[in-house]
Amino acid sequence: MAKQEDVFKKIVSHAKEYGFVFPSSEIYDGLGAVYDYAQNGVELKNNIKRYWWEAMTLLHENIVGIDSAIFMHPTIWKASGHVDAFNDPLIDNRDSKKRYRADVLIEDEIAKIEDKINKECEKAAKRFGDKFDEAMFRQTNPRVLENQHKRDELHARYEKAMNDNDLAELKQIIVDYGIVDPVSGTKNWTDVRQFNLMFKTQMGSSADSTMDVYLRPETAQGIFVNFLNVQKTGRMRIPFGIAQIGKAFRNEIVARQFIFRMREFEQMEMQFFVRPGEELKWFDYWREQRLRWHKALGLGDDKYRFHDHEKLAHYANAATDIEFRMPFGFKEVEGIHSRTDFDLSQHAKFSGKKIQYFDAELNESYTPYVIETSIGVDRMFLSVMCSSYEEQQLDGGDTRVVLHLPKALAPIKCAILPLVRKDGMPEKAHEIMNMLKFDFACHYEDKDTVGKRYRRQDAIGTPYCVTVDGQTLEDNTVTLRDRDTMQQQRVAIADLPAILARECSLNNVLRKLM
Ligand code: GAP
Repeated sequence: MAKQEDVFKKIVSHAKEYGFVFPSSEIYDGLGAVYDYAQNGVELKNNIKRYWWEAMTLLHENIVGIDSAIFMHPTIWKASGHVDAFNDPLIDNRDSKKRYRADVLIEDEIAKIEDKINKECEKAAKRFGDKFDEAMFRQTNPRVLENQHKRDELHARYEKAMNDNDLAELKQIIVDYGIVDPVSGTKNWTDVRQFNLMFKTQMGSSADSTMDVYLRPETAQGIFVNFLNVQKTGRMRIPFGIAQIGKAFRNEIVARQFIFRMREFEQMEMQFFVRPGEELKWFDYWREQRLRWHKALGLGDDKYRFHDHEKLAHYANAATDIEFRMPFGFKEVEGIHSRTDFDLSQHAKFSGKKIQYFDAELNESYTPYVIETSIGVDRMFLSVMCSSYEEQQLDGGDTRVVLHLPKALAPIKCAILPLVRKDGMPEKAHEIMNMLKFDFACHYEDKDTVGKRYRRQDAIGTPYCVTVDGQTLEDNTVTLRDRDTMQQQRVAIADLPAILARECSLNNVLRKLM
């Protein structure tokens, strides 16, 4: 079986080769951790966003959307805590002059030990075959036990240092475990310092009127500061939610794993405002709802898990991540947080405005509590790509790369292919295209053999190919080829809209959420 890192590398190059994701500014050698979505990528991304937006705003009568500006008053970031506490612990290597996140260096060290344990288990599994009892092996093998002990000890120290915000201890761990710079191979480290992740720029034209503003590091604050506007103008009654999709920016120091950690990315966030005291009930509700949303795409229920936070931010009283099994392990794709009344209270304090809700049923005013669901569009995109990619060995020794994208998300739903570029077939194909294109993203192609064209469509995840041949001109039927099974069936042109609607409509996925 191919190693997971190799599979991931192939997915990254596939994404580029087939027009999903390009490195930004590539002709200038790129810009670190910034990417452009290409012709197919933007369609897939838009479909993901549409799925989220409709699941939030169409399926919930009490959720409305907004689109707030990226620039906001700088005091917002003071109130939210980002100016003082949105930091990463950084360390420099004096020899390579490279800068690293201290926590990531330590996490990599932990991963290395875990890797050793897993390799030991894999070796033993090969040696013992069917008789191998992995749980027993992990409990008894001396080398595994020794490494497990080392891992647990390191992990406990690391966790404590992070929780205590103890920068000196983070440095000490790096020293004690002999962690070397991957570039220079030396241990010549500086002390660990805090580094704020927000991008700063200036607004205004004259020297005395300019002010420092930030590129927003999350979309959520645009929702909080519009709470009163939306509540009043939309006559919203609690509980209700405000949803938003938009760009966010973070000066990530360790930006890696392709679009998993970017400096410019997109979030889909929803803040759900509830009565104080009811927040944990709603937290449980959104935890389940959001997992259902993920699972309804059919990428595989075993690919998800919750990671409940034991250590909570001071303003939160519950938090969990939905993690997805990427080729590089289970990773956070979405966070669900019960943020109490922290954000609204902070904005009330810093703005001097009363931000409260009058609850007519209770006949009292209060600051609502908030449940937040926050998902990264790019991470969602990556999880869809990773779970859809397959290299298949076909009968007869042939191979193909196929993207089994959820049909409703596929950039193109149907490719229309005249068998040859003559005898009236291109015209007939265009006729079919003109009939379908108002409802489905279609693609016309007449270059190369039809076999090659099928392969190209498989590689971008097009669920159906319609081939127009000689018989089409006689009886108005076409062959309809299924991406996943490669089976072909003869169908009437008149039936195509109903077939595509049944198989590819986003509504089918949305209905699973009801
Ligand atoms: N308002 C809450 C918030 O922003 P977060 O856990 O920092 O919470 C939410 O971010 C989601 O945004 C993450 O689960 C992840 O999917 C995405 N995300 C965060 N940083 C990212 C980055 N540098 N690149 C890509 N996606 C990112």
